[in-house]
Amino acid sequence: DKGNYRHFMLKEIFEQPESTARTIGAYVNALNQTAALPNGQTLDFAAFDRVYIVACGTAYYAGCVAKYWFEKYAKLPVETDIASEFRYRDPALTKNALAIFVTQSGETADTLAALRYCKEYGLTTAAVVNVQTSTIAREVDAVLPTLAGAEVGVASTKAFTAQLCSLASIAIIAGRARKVLSKKDEARLTDQLMQIPGLITQALKIEDATKEIAVDLSSARDVLYLGRGTMFPIAMEGALKLKEISYIHAEGYAAGELKHGPIALIDEHTPVVMIAPTDHLLEKTISNMQEVAARHGKVLLISDENGAKTGADTPWQTLIAPACDPFISPILYSVPIQLLAYYIAVEKGTDVDQPRNLAKSVTVE
Ligand code: F6R
Repeated sequence: DKGNYRHFMLKEIFEQPESTARTIGAYVNALNQTAALPNGQTLDFAAFDRVYIVACGTAYYAGCVAKYWFEKYAKLPVETDIASEFRYRDPALTKNALAIFVTQSGETADTLAALRYCKEYGLTTAAVVNVQTSTIAREVDAVLPTLAGAEVGVASTKAFTAQLCSLASIAIIAGRARKVLSKKDEARLTDQLMQIPGLITQALKIEDATKEIAVDLSSARDVLYLGRGTMFPIAMEGALKLKEISYIHAEGYAAGELKHGPIALIDEHTPVVMIAPTDHLLEKTISNMQEVAARHGKVLLISDENGAKTGADTPWQTLIAPACDPFISPILYSVPIQLLAYYIAVEKGTDVDQPRNLAKSVTVE
């Protein structure tokens, strides 16, 4: 049931205050400001020497964000892989590794094959999974649930932010186990997670501004998404969302890679979405934005009040999200890129919930 929403995708975007709250609630004890794996499960994070994160599509991009978290907050080396590459590339696995599979459906053929490969090798396995009765949930050692609820729109939205909430919680748990984070750090970071639902509610208020920008962007042939740090995978996810539902060609790039190639694409016809919240990388991303503007690129800056001030009048348009701690910004900044893709697709009149050639669950390779 779509309720009062025109599409399931929009309904699911607007469900994110609840879906993130439920998911965080499965890992975080708000009263004690602590995090733990659900249902009394444990994973010996102090004993692992690395983590492999394997997934497809949007779930893979959630894994790419998690790499930044695990390495920063738990000093745990992470390798991220696309499942269809991992399973066939003869990966040189280490014995004391944890393999995490990220999947909404729990039935994706390549992800399942990668899981079986790791089990065969003797690795400890875990799944960040939305469908608890799925094949992948049944076959892993540890089930790390996302409580997004059923996702109907083919383009993943609330499942993605739920995956990020689970992975952020797990990074805190790993950081504590590996003594990288103190009790105080754990309290501070869990507190940040608890703020996500409220911040998403605020971020959803950019809907009307996004609609207007979408009218203009709907005539683009190509769109570039740029970001640094955790905003790099968010840029890739933004580009994937746009491709999937609007059929506009889009690419996500690390902003620092701009001058190593993609800057050749910039002209007045190529809109560039710069995702740049206030963090230690803001100045660098803003200078990339100026490079784009100098080549007559049409920049949409997605940032907060402070970032908008820093960007001054260089961007063509600015979308302003609430200020937040850099730890949680990838979760919050998922919202504007979802709304942007959605309204561009609506403007183009595509079948948003059932885009051509795509299936919700890819059970063949
Ligand atoms: C994109 C999308 C796909 C899925 C991918 C993996 O919006 O939905 O890229 O993320 O097919 O699916 P799951 O998560 O079910 O393994």
